[in-house]
Amino acid sequence: MSTAGRSVTENTATTAAQGAVATDTTAGATPRELRERLLDDAERAIGGLLDRETERWRAEAPQSLALFDGIRDLVTAGGKRLRPAFCVSGFLAAGGDPAEPVLPGLAAALELMHVSALLHDDIFDEADLRRGRPTSHLVQAERHRAAGWRGSSQRFGESVAILAGDLAAVYADQALRDARGPVLDEWSLLRSEMMVGQFMDLSIAAEYNPDPELSRRVALYKSGRYSIHRPLNIGALFAGREDLAEPFEVYGRALGEAFQLRDDLIDAFGEDSVTGKTAGLDFAQHKMTLLLGLAMQSDERVRELVRRGEGGVDRSDVAELRRLIVDAGIRDQVEKHIDELVLTAVAALDTADVSEAWRSELTVMAHRVAYRDS
Ligand code: IPE
Ligand code: IPE
Ligand code: MG
Ligand code: MG
Ligand code: MG
Repeated sequence: MSTAGRSVTENTATTAAQGAVATDTTAGATPRELRERLLDDAERAIGGLLDRETERWRAEAPQSLALFDGIRDLVTAGGKRLRPAFCVSGFLAAGGDPAEPVLPGLAAALELMHVSALLHDDIFDEADLRRGRPTSHLVQAERHRAAGWRGSSQRFGESVAILAGDLAAVYADQALRDARGPVLDEWSLLRSEMMVGQFMDLSIAAEYNPDPELSRRVALYKSGRYSIHRPLNIGALFAGREDLAEPFEVYGRALGEAFQLRDDLIDAFGEDSVTGKTAGLDFAQHKMTLLLGLAMQSDERVRELVRRGEGGVDRSDVAELRRLIVDAGIRDQVEKHIDELVLTAVAALDTADVSEAWRSELTVMAHRVAYRDS
């Protein structure tokens, strides 16, 4: 599905849990097959919504089409579609009817909200690459520059990307319009937690506050909750299964944190060509990830590298910083923490009233999310 980032539902990882070929006996299809069908429907829901909007605005205000390009470009660039995958999985694991017509819209809403968050995040983080393509605010700034328009190209680019992000959030709401009650409450939590988390991410970097416990909470709020826990629970709630809220919270909370700690490791040690994002960006912005927080606490040389950089760690110091983090055992420490989180997540499934087939599938997903390389 993706150019940058492989779908989390693709059958490529090797885990112990994959040994059991899970079959959902009631539907005569494997959980994965059922999920893939619904995810295809969700893709069509996103495409249909964007097509309809584009056609409308092509007729009414053709000069506005660049705004939609920012959303469409990000959608078509790929991505792992993690949030729709967890939503659909939560629904099916909860015994939801695979023929339920509203579910694809729900899954589509989660991806559109993610697209909204990414458009904004790339401005905050001054990122230049997303899903293997130049970030939206840079594309728009370049358009402004190339046309020789007046005013600041950077301000123009960022303004357009903010609007595109807001518009994607509106489309997310539109995609979700047939959901009701507890699903909408969960949806509000998902959005507000993510925004609070993003604020905390920016704040602790600005404050230069290497506090590992706080870093863990930020990882959960800016990312883990909206990426895994809330989508999973939205799926279960839509199937009417409030009893799954507790085990899914333990699973989603632990795996959500593991997901973001892996993202932090990928930023620190990954390759642009594999991740579709610029490596080392967190260091350049002295983002107080658990990784950097622990390293700063344990090593005066790390503190010095971070302190002496212009705004963040200088590019020329990144290789040295990586080496210090590895040598001090901090990378291993974060890996070990991820292992523990995965164990916690998987153990929570034992207390969930779901089929063996789904317990196994959610275990496979946990391993893919925690041990991915993009
Ligand atoms: C990136 O999320 C943003 C974070 C919350 C860390 P993903 O790693 O799921 O990005 P895509 O959707 O696959 O591009
Ligand atoms: C982004 O976290 C979280 C949201 C998009 C809400 P990051 O800033 O770590 O994500 P990447 O690494 O840019 O994908
Ligand atoms: Mg960020
Ligand atoms: Mg970012
Ligand atoms: Mg990151």
